[in-house]
Amino acid sequence: MVSSRPIRTRRQLQTFVRQNFRDRLFVSVSNREPFVHAYDSAGKIEAKFAAGGLTLALHPVMQAVGGAWVAHGSGSADRATADEHGRARVPPEDPSYTLQRVWLSARENDGYYNGFANQALWPLCHNAFTKPVFREAHWAAYQAVNRKFADAVAKIVGRRDATVFIQDYHFALLSRLVRERCPQAVCAQFWHIPWPVEGVFRVCPWRKQILDGLLGNDVLGFHAPAYVERFIDGAARQLGCERTAPRVLRHRNREARIRHFPISIDFDKTAAAARGAACDAAVRGLRERFGLQGKFVVLGLDRIDYSKGVIERLQAVEALLETYPEVRGKIVFLYAGSPSRTKIPAYKALHRDMNRGERRINKKYGNERWRPVVTIAEHLPYEQVLALYRLADVCVVSSLDDGMNLVAKEFLAARNDEQGRLLLSEFTGAAWELPGVETFNPFATDEFARKLYELSAAAPGKARAEMRRLRRHVRENNVFGWMGSILEELAALDRAPR
Ligand code: G6P
Repeated sequence: MVSSRPIRTRRQLQTFVRQNFRDRLFVSVSNREPFVHAYDSAGKIEAKFAAGGLTLALHPVMQAVGGAWVAHGSGSADRATADEHGRARVPPEDPSYTLQRVWLSARENDGYYNGFANQALWPLCHNAFTKPVFREAHWAAYQAVNRKFADAVAKIVGRRDATVFIQDYHFALLSRLVRERCPQAVCAQFWHIPWPVEGVFRVCPWRKQILDGLLGNDVLGFHAPAYVERFIDGAARQLGCERTAPRVLRHRNREARIRHFPISIDFDKTAAAARGAACDAAVRGLRERFGLQGKFVVLGLDRIDYSKGVIERLQAVEALLETYPEVRGKIVFLYAGSPSRTKIPAYKALHRDMNRGERRINKKYGNERWRPVVTIAEHLPYEQVLALYRLADVCVVSSLDDGMNLVAKEFLAARNDEQGRLLLSEFTGAAWELPGVETFNPFATDEFARKLYELSAAAPGKARAEMRRLRRHVRENNVFGWMGSILEELAALDRAPR
């Protein structure tokens, strides 16, 4: 039974999965866990829900169907809260599904996560001109960890009818390995980052194995149609597989449907949280703490990652202050950057360059009453993130390449006042998806600076109609719809002869 109404709410999503996935086991796989158990400073165990875009969508599905979520157990108290098989029932306050933790040694994680996933695949798939690092030891660890996850899935699934839903670039080989172990499983995977053009992808020494691994899926999802086309093009050329229908590839006697499903956010929840008294207080606190009263605030908010255009944004701020002296003393570029993958050399170099850039700009243009660049390099609580969205005059997403970018969507949801402007890199999935959004090229420093200048000079409230339209789009195309459309594709597949 597939529903005819589009899925828009958590409840509709849950009803849909109950109706369509009742008779089969549902297993999700991701690198990060939905619940991390960690010791706090007093030695007490805390369970933290990882409230990212994916967890918000997948968690209600898991609650509705039960089943298991397989993930790397990385919390300091994860072992203490799991049984001898690495299993814990979650959510802790109302257990409804099993979290199957996979334990990785420091060496395994280093080769798989810090190595192949984040030094080879990440730069390979993001066109940010950071060279991928291909080391055989990293590749060996990546293969071994994919096998370890496949064994964990197989232990749960056995020969039963099951749907296995895999997340992201950490598991390019997993569906093929699961298929070998569990012949009855239907596999779907969502690739959350861009897919590169064939001319770039072919520099990967293990490109064929990666494509072959991903084509073990029955459904493979990307954010945008361009990634689907590039994947099909690359797979057809590298493996010589046949296109049997639009966006269907036949490989090793099986068909894989390659589709796009743009991810989104829980719009209503974000909008409601940004309306609360706690958020009002956080806005006041942040304005005071960083001296933002009466200033035009340009906000950047992301993981400190070279793909986000962190340096390019600082260069544009410098060009803005240099080229348009009238903005000096009036503009503050506020950067909330959360540290990420800090053991990897390219990220270490980025932190160093970012700090140098900030110091240089502040020294050259700032004075004792005004600091043009303010950086908050820490993981902020969600309320503070929402408060930053609310106090920004402009939110700049400067990614050099980005699968979707949910900061853009969260900023829109948080602006119940329909004020503020979103300035979005044209190289994001969101720029493709959001109708008529203001875009720019983050590689073009002067154009970027000019855009910032124009927005700072525009009358406030000028773009209210644009904000209203963009907000409506995100409200109507939310994360439950994203999850629903993937599950609809899977439900249809279950009924189709294969
Ligand atoms: C991207 C990836 C996710 C990843 C996230 C945070 O959005 O697609 O898979 O979880 O970045 O990165 P991290 O390395 O901290 O998990």
